[in-house]
Amino acid sequence: MALITWTEEKYGTKWSVADQQHQHLFDLLNTLDDAAKAGDRSAIGSALDALIDFVVKHFQTEEDEMQKQGYPGYEAHKAEHDNLVATCADLQKKFHAGEAEVTPDTTQFVKDWLDNHIPKVDFDYGPYFNERGIQ
Ligand code: FEO
Repeated sequence: MALITWTEEKYGTKWSVADQQHQHLFDLLNTLDDAAKAGDRSAIGSALDALIDFVVKHFQTEEDEMQKQGYPGYEAHKAEHDNLVATCADLQKKFHAGEAEVTPDTTQFVKDWLDNHIPKVDFDYGPYFNERGIQ
């Protein structure tokens, strides 16, 4: 069973670019979760790198648009992004050095982060962008 499933009701931001990226991000997290549950270290490494690469890309997409639109919540939003990226980069480095493992607890942590961040933080830019003609 998939760890996380995108629905408009639960995760729709009212900005189609973010919604599409969130769906891809969820797919990558589910792939990592499957590998973690199987305990396949090689598959975990590939899936971890793919997930983190895309998370960085996704955060940059949001940050670029927030800055372009003069979004007032930019700094606080970016700080949340930076915290997760720092945590992920540390784990990625330790995993590849053989100093840490990625387990279902790790993927659950990422899911919990998304379950908090998307509705509480990402949702705030939707109406702001919509008012400026960005759907
Ligand atoms: Fe969709 Fe702010 O991350």
